[in-house]
Amino acid sequence: MLKLAPSILAADFKNLGQQVIDVSLAGAQYIHLDVMDGAFVPSISFGMPVISSLRSCTDRVFDVHMMVEDPGRYISDIRAAGADLICVHAEACTHLDRTVNQIKEAGLKVGVALNPATPLSVLDCILPELDMVLIMSVNPGFGGQKFIPYTLTKIRNLRNLCKERGLDTDIQVDGGVTCDNVRELIDAGANVFVAGSAVFKGDAAANTRDFLKIFEEY
Ligand code: DX5
Ligand code: ZN
Repeated sequence: MLKLAPSILAADFKNLGQQVIDVSLAGAQYIHLDVMDGAFVPSISFGMPVISSLRSCTDRVFDVHMMVEDPGRYISDIRAAGADLICVHAEACTHLDRTVNQIKEAGLKVGVALNPATPLSVLDCILPELDMVLIMSVNPGFGGQKFIPYTLTKIRNLRNLCKERGLDTDIQVDGGVTCDNVRELIDAGANVFVAGSAVFKGDAAANTRDFLKIFEEY
């Protein structure tokens, strides 16, 4: 099933609760929450207090993308704030297996994110343990960047790898996703689409519906 995960990083922060309600009512299945620590990535975004205040706005899946060094330190706090799925960067975890298991033991779905230049081979051992792989299609840290074309091949290779290994892993793509390139991403094998600017710049509900209308073609 194809799912839309609007990234609130691009939302109007003075009106955040209403924006989350708007995209939820329009049918977005996930809410993508970008946590940035100013160390793994240059920017600082938001953390637990924001996530927990938004929890009462929607019953949609809270998909927390941790752009944080050593994210294992925060799993129980992020869970308490209301996460359903936690995605950590392979590049930010010295002990990736431990962190993945920490998330699973907390009763949450687990994803691992890869920066554009990180090869799929880092997932060779851990892939069967994962609910989702997040292929970053921009360098993480900022919204509104241009999609990096070579990541399309990476998505295609990952979908083939999953098929060969009999895995039905979700493949999420994050960065520069728009209504204009989403069909290509679907064809390549992604099934969870993060969109920040393409949803929240303008009418967020209408933009959400535009994505979902495209999904209906499949
Ligand atoms: C970037 C974040 C993204 C960001 C995407 O580091 O992980 O989730 O909000 O924004 P757009 O869709 O504008 O590229
Ligand atoms: Zn993200």
